Amino acid sequence: MFTFTEEQLMIRDTVREFAEKEVLPRAAALDETGGFPHESMQSLTEMGITGLNVPEEYGGAGLDDEVLKALCVEELAKVCASTACVLDVQFLASDIILRKGTEAQKKKYLSLAAQGKIGGFALTEPGAGSDAGSARTTAVKDGDCYVLNGTKCFISNLGPDAGYHYVVIALTDPSKGTKGMTAFIVDRDMPGVSVGKCERKMGLRGSAVAELVLENVRVPEENLLGQLGEGFKIAMMGLDGGRIGIAAQSVGVAEGALAEAVKYANSRVQFGKPIAVNQGLQWYFAEMGTRIEAARLLTLRAADARQKGEPCTKLAAMAKLYASETACFVCDLALQVHGGYGYMKDFAIERMYRDARILRIYEGTSEVQKMVISREVLSGR
Ligand code: CAA
Repeated sequence: MFTFTEEQLMIRDTVREFAEKEVLPRAAALDETGGFPHESMQSLTEMGITGLNVPEEYGGAGLDDEVLKALCVEELAKVCASTACVLDVQFLASDIILRKGTEAQKKKYLSLAAQGKIGGFALTEPGAGSDAGSARTTAVKDGDCYVLNGTKCFISNLGPDAGYHYVVIALTDPSKGTKGMTAFIVDRDMPGVSVGKCERKMGLRGSAVAELVLENVRVPEENLLGQLGEGFKIAMMGLDGGRIGIAAQSVGVAEGALAEAVKYANSRVQFGKPIAVNQGLQWYFAEMGTRIEAARLLTLRAADARQKGEPCTKLAAMAKLYASETACFVCDLALQVHGGYGYMKDFAIERMYRDARILRIYEGTSEVQKMVISREVLSGR
């Protein structure tokens, strides 16, 4: 069983209150119009949450705490998965810079993150999704710069008016495969960087996703992140943390959907009584509640391991796999409890059902998580 510190509980409760008062009222409109949750992110910045994991010397809260990050993402996801996703990807980008950045990189980019400049992570390409190692974007050394060319797709926190800097993985030595990949920090306003196709999505419509197009972008050598040839490992290390974030998001979405189903089942009267008295539905609630609890514990276990510096690749993949499958399971049953009303946009469950579907896909599909888990288990780790 997990015990939280007073500080973790205090910050979690503050985010919970903010989510209920300010994020929830905006969630339906954000989904309807698409765009980006600028107002909520501004408030989260003022609350110190956007820069939660940023050291105090760079203007952040100085709380690089994996469990706390998961709790914040979970609270937001209960009411608005899009806003939770934006914060989660912000954490992913700043986590990589925090772990691998030089002093100058941290000073510049983590300070900006704490000021609410939103970052992202650019690994995926049209031909390199699950097989991230087949990415083709190149980075060729030219004087004191690397010249980047390629197109990254499905990049979260990138839109016409969203996103500031991106951790980009590119090939510095194509002959070496994943060992020839290097990470760079690329500013969105560097000459040659443009926003390509902005995706129209089934769900998570309030989190901008677009193509990052790189055409002869001269990235100064000082923006090389980590070591030359270390990019793929940096990406995988970042995704270990990112997957815990998606697990937390999934737990939040599932909890939010369960709450909607409970409210509905207790108030909807059919055959002369609330539908919650029917055993058929009660069994749904038992399964939903049990799976959420298990997903939550697995997520916290993975977060705790990463915080302690213990190996967490397997646990992160397990948490992501189980929690995302749980979110989809719960949203499906919660919608079923609502009957025909659940299919209508007047009820939040309709949005939650669509939002949940990406959780089994992004930051590695369920199938990729199973690959990762089975490799770890079969190696005895
Ligand atoms: N940490 C550190 N190093 C790791 C690692 C980890 N978690 N996982 C692998 N590595 C290392 C390996 O040890 C290996 O190094 P050595 O050769 O020195 O031993 C190297 O990386 C290559 O590893 P693999 O042989 O396992 O590589 P692979 O090509 O077989 O790929 C994979 C493995 C797990 C399938 C990987 O490609 C993968 O995770 N694919 C899914 C990609 C993904 O999740 N994309 C999501 C992008 S982000 C997103 O969705 C949304 C967003 O905007 C945030």
